[in-house]
Amino acid sequence: MCGIVGYVGSRQAAPIVVNGLNRLAYRGYDSAGLAVIGEQGLALRRSVGKLENLSRLLESNPVFGSIGIGHTRWATHGSVTETNTHPHIDCAGQVVVIQNGIVENYLELKQALVAEGHTFRSQTDTEVIAHLVEKYLCGGADLATAVRHALALLRGANAVVVLATRYPDQIVAARLGNAGGVTVGLGDGEIWVASDLPAILEHTQRVVFLEDREMAVLSRDGAQYLRLDGTPLAKKIETIAWDPVAAARGRYKHFMQKEIYEQPRSLIDALRGRVDFEAAEVRLEGLPFHPDQLRGLGRIHTVACGTAWHAGLLGKYMIESLARLPVEVDYGSEFRYRDPLIQANDLVLAISQSGETVDTLAAMEEARRKGAPTLAIVNAVGSQAARLADGVIYLHAGPEIGVASTKAFTSMLVAQYLLAIYLGQTRGTLGLAERRRLLQQLAELPNLVGQVLADDGPCPELAERYQHCRDFLFLGRGINYPVALEGALKLKEISYIHAEGYPAGEMKHGPIALIDAQMPVVAIVGRDHVREKMLSNIEQVKARGGVVIAVADGEDAEVAAKADHVVPVPQFSPLLAPVLNVLPLQLLAYHVAVRRGCDVDQPRNLAKSVTVE
Ligand code: AGP
Repeated sequence: MCGIVGYVGSRQAAPIVVNGLNRLAYRGYDSAGLAVIGEQGLALRRSVGKLENLSRLLESNPVFGSIGIGHTRWATHGSVTETNTHPHIDCAGQVVVIQNGIVENYLELKQALVAEGHTFRSQTDTEVIAHLVEKYLCGGADLATAVRHALALLRGANAVVVLATRYPDQIVAARLGNAGGVTVGLGDGEIWVASDLPAILEHTQRVVFLEDREMAVLSRDGAQYLRLDGTPLAKKIETIAWDPVAAARGRYKHFMQKEIYEQPRSLIDALRGRVDFEAAEVRLEGLPFHPDQLRGLGRIHTVACGTAWHAGLLGKYMIESLARLPVEVDYGSEFRYRDPLIQANDLVLAISQSGETVDTLAAMEEARRKGAPTLAIVNAVGSQAARLADGVIYLHAGPEIGVASTKAFTSMLVAQYLLAIYLGQTRGTLGLAERRRLLQQLAELPNLVGQVLADDGPCPELAERYQHCRDFLFLGRGINYPVALEGALKLKEISYIHAEGYPAGEMKHGPIALIDAQMPVVAIVGRDHVREKMLSNIEQVKARGGVVIAVADGEDAEVAAKADHVVPVPQFSPLLAPVLNVLPLQLLAYHVAVRRGCDVDQPRNLAKSVTVE
């Protein structure tokens, strides 16, 4: 997860910016850099690796000035090199930019700018913004206007901070979509901007949060706020208590709520450094499996527990359809005792947020005992599962504190989507055009997730209405069946309401007996090949006096006509739609649990990582 810090005031900016980046270092990064404007003009210092490397560089080659911006990067576009490290500059070295997020259409913007004579130094998407700002400054616009015009051309979700030598007293910060927060910290004659509170709170508790499509022009005289259409904005100053846990929770009441809203950013981080969009290739660095071994694979055995098991079921759809490789999905606790049949050319894939779940670890041990190579998809860096496996794909979702897993789940889906494409490109089941289409859809996903999370939609009102129900049924077909399972688990584990997820086609073989007006039925209806079947399942529920909450396309009139409530989600690629469809289910569970006065982050009887059998 990238970190952004900026400062303008009367003190030397460099130590303040580096210290702020250090406070965000828990988010992980692979390179860091800063830019400062002083009497000598613009000075840029960047280094690969830990912040210490940047600090050492600054010791040997210091910079002076009381306005500066800094960034810790986790590569999305372009490899980990000094040239690709932020901040990025324009042709003349007069404009400098740092960004969190993805510029989805950077390739076409770059080609247009190159045609206009701009020279690019890096492989990053971010550098495009520096050249666009340069273009508008050269066209006579002031800095804030140039940034607004540049951002108007971007597609994606971005948090952007800009400096320019022609405006040596100004920092311009802007937020587009939900690729991470932009927080302004207000001091006396000095101002901070950062992607998260820990970098600001030791200096001031007076902060302003930028919302989507808002920007701030910061100087020693204060801050001005604008919408991206140029209209002035009055922003509320909030005072944040300096309590590390509260600081870590930021503006959210619960970690689960914070982690739900972090998903646009955690999804970007799940694909960082793993996709070469220009070559339409997935790069999974550090996997010890030779391409011949992957081409010769006969089967994948996925082992996991709880939410991770649901993610494994979804990964089965992705891997089987994109890499044409059969996948068996087992509960870790079952796999370890059922003497599974494992062939010499099989691979065991273990999925775990914590990497410490004893049943999943034991299943990995069983795989090793049977001589199978193991690959782990894990969030917790350095955890047992990561150490036990032959190869690891880290989620990079950042710390997940709430016991109910949310952002780790959607990142597990993106990690398996990348694995499926990687296996497809290695095994030759996926051609270039198909890969380009699949990866372009992936690039668009974080912003779409941001749109779904732009507000809580009807979930608070539905929670208010159905919080007293004793049972819920969640139904889905095909790739949405595991989403139904996940929705039921979320509700169960934090609200203590009995809930079941079921393949909708199975309803008439039993659960239909449960249906009455007291049991809400949540039906996930995609614009896919089983939509008609889902519609008739909804009719079957309605025919028994049931109440239907449909998660579906808001424009789907047929669903709206049949269901009691519709929770709208944008329709998207069938393999990635579950990432969108699960979001309202996370929110519904959250709002029901809050209304029932449950301890959302530490629900009874549950632990964040289950280290006992
Ligand atoms: C999910 O919300 C639960 N916390 C639980 O089911 C969890 O998914 C399961 O214990 C597996 O944990 P892991 O991903 O850390 O292995």
